[in-house]
Amino acid sequence: MATSVSNGYQSGFGNEFASEAIPGILPQGQNSPQRVAHGLYAEQLSGTAFTAPRHANRRSWLYRIRPAAVHQPFQPLAHATFHNRFDEAPATPNQLRWDPLPLPEQPVDFIDGLVTLAGNGGPAEQGGIGIHVYTANRSMQGRFFYDADGELLIVPQLGRLRLATELGVIEVEPQEIAVIPRGVRFRVDLLDEAARGYVCENFGALLRLPDLGPIGSNGLANSRDFLTPRAAYEDVEGAFELIAKFQGALWTAAIGHSPLDVVGWHGNYAPYKYDLRRFNTIGSISVDHPDPSIFTVLTSPSDTVGTANVDFAIFPPRWLVAQHTFRPPWFHRNVASEFMGLITGVYDAKAEGFMPGGASLHNCMSGHGPDAATFEKASSADLAKPDVIGATMAFMFETRKVIRPTQQALDAPQLQHDYYRCWQDIRKHFAP
Ligand SMILES: [Fe+2]
Repeated sequence: MATSVSNGYQSGFGNEFASEAIPGILPQGQNSPQRVAHGLYAEQLSGTAFTAPRHANRRSWLYRIRPAAVHQPFQPLAHATFHNRFDEAPATPNQLRWDPLPLPEQPVDFIDGLVTLAGNGGPAEQGGIGIHVYTANRSMQGRFFYDADGELLIVPQLGRLRLATELGVIEVEPQEIAVIPRGVRFRVDLLDEAARGYVCENFGALLRLPDLGPIGSNGLANSRDFLTPRAAYEDVEGAFELIAKFQGALWTAAIGHSPLDVVGWHGNYAPYKYDLRRFNTIGSISVDHPDPSIFTVLTSPSDTVGTANVDFAIFPPRWLVAQHTFRPPWFHRNVASEFMGLITGVYDAKAEGFMPGGASLHNCMSGHGPDAATFEKASSADLAKPDVIGATMAFMFETRKVIRPTQQALDAPQLQHDYYRCWQDIRKHFAP
């Protein structure tokens, strides 16, 4: 059962939650009685294999006005910019960076406004991620969406979103994230005039909290700060559209009612939100700094222990106090591939050019790190004083597989063709 309530949400990561919008909905002692209270239908939603180990097993029981099966047949739906075609262009070892995508001028909702920047793997192999950016200026009207290909990690950068899902309503603002599980139907309403943000479509194992090892039982993102909505339903009929993403393509079906008609549910497969400002940031208090894995909020493990399908890490406000140390992120090359976005503020490894709403991609073994200006400044900084990294929030999707930009991302006018220049002024200091 749910552990506690916070602002109308249920608290905890992956708990056995229970919620009912009308008291007495949930059957006691069994999941699918012959008759469910108030004439509802019982339906199980499985997010992992039936036989997944108990600690990893995720499913919920939904008690709803109509089963999810009730809709007209799906037809293909064209979408010019939202897809999983990661083989259109050669993967490049070049460092890449993009300015933010402009906000739309015509009416565009969350689904219309999705643009795929990059990705790897795919839904067929149940591994990898899709990396998308959304811009929108209106709510989804009379249409609902679900993604059968992966769970959606939504990272708002501009504007608040109201995510009306089958299992309840989540409101998120920039510096919060939301995760919509694979298959859960939802509608995105805008709470402000415009919205922009990032989406990680995770084709692999469900995101989970990382193990903490020697850190101990607290720290990084704490379970109690993850919030899952309470049951809320829509008993509405009309000429609506249900959009499915299935094997990389979109499909549309007519549906005569709102599919957000779940009156009560219980289980551990549910959407959730998390406020990144609650992250307990851990770093060095002597010398050097830990690998950026110390900033991992959520991880999707792969079949290789310790090698994630994707890690979602953040670079939040923090104090840098390490002595005898180059304090910004160091120069490095990484077997994993790193896609970064900036939600607000300035990222401490770059003096300029990485804008809120923008993105960068440093692929497997591509050298990167601080630009020349940042290097010179940090090399002569007074280490007697702490550096306070103030109002900022950057994030990274780090994956084991090379991240392949889409053709439209490489053709986008937002691609900074001069990004490489930020390292060209790095001077030779060698003096034998
Ligand atoms: Fe990096």
